[in-house]
Amino acid sequence: MGNVRAIVYGVGAMGSILTRLLLDKEVEIVGAIGRSPKKVGRDLGEVAGLERHLGVTVEADPRRTLAAGADIAVVCVSSYLDSMRGHFATCLEHGVNVVTIEEETVYPWNTAPDHAAELDALAKANGMTLAASGAQDVFWLHLVGTLLGASHTVDAVEGRCTWNVDDYGPEVANHVHVGDTAEAFAQHVADQGWPEFVARQNLEALVAELGLTVAEITSRVSPVLATQPTFCQSLNLMVAPDHMLGTVDTTDVKTNEGPRLTFAMEGRVYHEGQTDVNEWFVKGEPDLHLRNSCVPYRFVTCSSVVNRIPDVIRAEPGLISLNRLGKPSYKHGALRSHLR
Ligand SMILES: NC(=O)c1ccc[n+]([C@@H]2O[C@H](COP(=O)([O-])OP(=O)(O)OC[C@H]3O[C@@H](n4cnc5c(N)ncnc54)[C@H](OP(=O)(O)O)[C@@H]3O)[C@@H](O)[C@H]2O)c1
Repeated sequence: MGNVRAIVYGVGAMGSILTRLLLDKEVEIVGAIGRSPKKVGRDLGEVAGLERHLGVTVEADPRRTLAAGADIAVVCVSSYLDSMRGHFATCLEHGVNVVTIEEETVYPWNTAPDHAAELDALAKANGMTLAASGAQDVFWLHLVGTLLGASHTVDAVEGRCTWNVDDYGPEVANHVHVGDTAEAFAQHVADQGWPEFVARQNLEALVAELGLTVAEITSRVSPVLATQPTFCQSLNLMVAPDHMLGTVDTTDVKTNEGPRLTFAMEGRVYHEGQTDVNEWFVKGEPDLHLRNSCVPYRFVTCSSVVNRIPDVIRAEPGLISLNRLGKPSYKHGALRSHLR
């Protein structure tokens, strides 16, 4: 295969980092898709904050960009299949594989079964693959699965992580209701419900990876409140005390086979000195403890996606949830060398 040809679909915080990482791995960027008039029409290198022009213009019309052809679209736009379904479908219909950081695609079979089935069928009909990666790939799924490879018996698995809202763009800060009061958030959840976010899909992928089955699954969300005025960079907003810095999304699973699993994911605006954490406790024989005290989630979101590109191009057609994409691995040098 010649160079891997990619389209950067969504040039926000993640799409910008990804642009540089793709170029480092000698990926040929053949198109870029954006939305705001501040970005559309400009060179991707400039929009992504690189110090050079790439000769790739950010376009508003995905169909036109996709029609020119590519091996893969790297899609970093928004969360949930409800809003992303159309973007993914457009890529697949144009014969372009998709790797995305959209979180529901990690394991969409139960939270968005209709969209998942439709996209799976569309991908198969076009001989293409749709798959997700991101921070959860190594740290919340495969690292945990590997740790459990040392267990003799498992009664419970308890995971928790924290990540900084300001490492991402406004899409993320708005999603976790930064700046809201607890009362307004409670009202929002009462009126509109709260879509299960990351923790659920991640645990379901882990349960499937372990060959277990879900007997009961429950999710809940709680607000994280500021105790002092705290600046949210991505919204350019000073969050007053008692207003929201983010949320904790928790999912609990009881399996038919016995082990119980819990994962609590805290996405919030950090105070000075706070770092990204990934921590898992396994209760059983033996008890095990895994802690990463300073994970650069923002960067590994993007580096994990780049490492997955050859896996996605090589995968069978369809929507391949993350438990079915195989173990993640480091891809040294040009990505094309991993497709021989
Ligand atoms: N799985 C993971 O590990 C992980 C990690 C981080 C983020 N995420 C998810 O990835 C998404 C993006 O995160 P981010 O930090 O990059 O957010 P962001 O900085 O807000 O970027 C989102 C980008 O999507 C673009 N966009 C929105 N609608 C579009 C459309 N219709 N067509 C083309 N582009 C469109 C926006 O374009 P304009 O700027 O032109 O308006 C924006 O640049 C979020 O949903 C987040 O939850 C996942």
